[in-house]
Amino acid sequence: MIPDHGITASQFNELLPKLGSIRDAIMTTELEILAGDLPIPAEMEPLDIGFVTLPDRLLAEYESNRQGSELGRLFKRATHLHRVVDRVVVLGIGGSYMGARAILESCCQPYWNELSRGDRGSKPRMYFEGNSFDNDASQALLYLLGAHKNQPATNELERWALVVISKSGDTLEMAAAFRQFLNALESSTGGDRQKTVELLVPVTGMGGKLHKMVTELGVTDFFPVPDRVGGRSSILSAVGMVPAAMLGVNVVELLQGASAMTKHFQLAKPEDNIVLQFVAANHLLEKHRNVKIRVMSVWSKALESFGMWYDQLAAENLGKNLLGFTPLTTLNTRDLHSRHQQHQQGKRDKVFNNVIVDEFRFDSLTIGSRSTDADSLNEIAGKTLPEVMQAAIEGTNQALRDDGRPSTNLFIPRVDELHMGQLFQMMMLATAVEGRLMGIHLYGQPGAEAYKKNMNRLLGRK
Ligand code: PA5
Repeated sequence: MIPDHGITASQFNELLPKLGSIRDAIMTTELEILAGDLPIPAEMEPLDIGFVTLPDRLLAEYESNRQGSELGRLFKRATHLHRVVDRVVVLGIGGSYMGARAILESCCQPYWNELSRGDRGSKPRMYFEGNSFDNDASQALLYLLGAHKNQPATNELERWALVVISKSGDTLEMAAAFRQFLNALESSTGGDRQKTVELLVPVTGMGGKLHKMVTELGVTDFFPVPDRVGGRSSILSAVGMVPAAMLGVNVVELLQGASAMTKHFQLAKPEDNIVLQFVAANHLLEKHRNVKIRVMSVWSKALESFGMWYDQLAAENLGKNLLGFTPLTTLNTRDLHSRHQQHQQGKRDKVFNNVIVDEFRFDSLTIGSRSTDADSLNEIAGKTLPEVMQAAIEGTNQALRDDGRPSTNLFIPRVDELHMGQLFQMMMLATAVEGRLMGIHLYGQPGAEAYKKNMNRLLGRK
């Protein structure tokens, strides 16, 4: 609590019971509506709250039917592809892209695509496209895949698979890329329809254009984007789990982490509830101190894409009706040398939500000592990089606090599947609670339609 620029304990304690009631309404009334026990009021449509129960449902189905469940099918498909391909291209945009990227960067080793096949445990490299109309990026990836050779791939090092993800099946970025990459895939199989189908994994809503197109190709093995799960909340559905399983990420642990967070959200008293506390601190700062920019300040490179995934979640869910804070991700300490000047001395319109990692993946590197000390580093020789990082975190937080600039700290024991599952679910739940607090309908993104309409008109599309 920072005098003059922060919030008070009584503001916090007053808001928490209200957040508790919103939580209860989500976990009882809204889930009952979702389960079909109560009719859906028109003003709640689309009620895309399915992400709350999705991890439990997937885990329970897998528990009771190892082979036939969605996860069972997914693991079988992934295991097969691990054997036969060395690269996977994932096409998709927005909620059909950012989650998979966040999972890759947080749950796989850094520089994943540069590792040898042996170091990757025979899991494929992964590339993302269909998230722009960037000619050179697409051309460069097609070149990397060997599309210019126009020859069939002959072994697993040359072979690649195509995962195409779109809930609507109708998004132009994805659809344009799908035509290009499908042509390349067909050429890599020498036009063999059966082999193409084997290497093509669609994740899509039933009945859309993508569904129709791949059905015409002969694909029968689909992974669904479930009803009532919105695009930006679909990370723990097949949208995120298919790429995750391709990478050999522990999908069950991701889902277990999310499930544990949902239980905590549901059962913990508001004063002990991490989701409600996160909402309360941020919301009160906006309400009482005009803090309109929320900086997700991540202290590990493995979390930068998580931050960008969250930017989308918050922006598309809450940026409506002239309301909604501006989310911004910073990666530290990198951005201490770019954005921090403004954050320390610019407008008082920001809160810094630190995401701090307790334990790193690899053994600690030490700063070495040298006989000549021109860089004057010998005085910290023997210190480890995590120790230096800790000093940077504390030093930054203290500097912000000394100037009355508010921050919160979220500690993750390790960046791994279990904790990332918790973190993803925590942010989706927090956003759902805050939307209800603000009186905003979270789901849908009507504001994203105008540019599409203009673009289609300019392209001469109906
Ligand atoms: O959150 C959302 O709904 C959007 O960001 C979508 O994910 C994005 O527009 C892509 O849509 P689709 O999956 O239908 O291709």
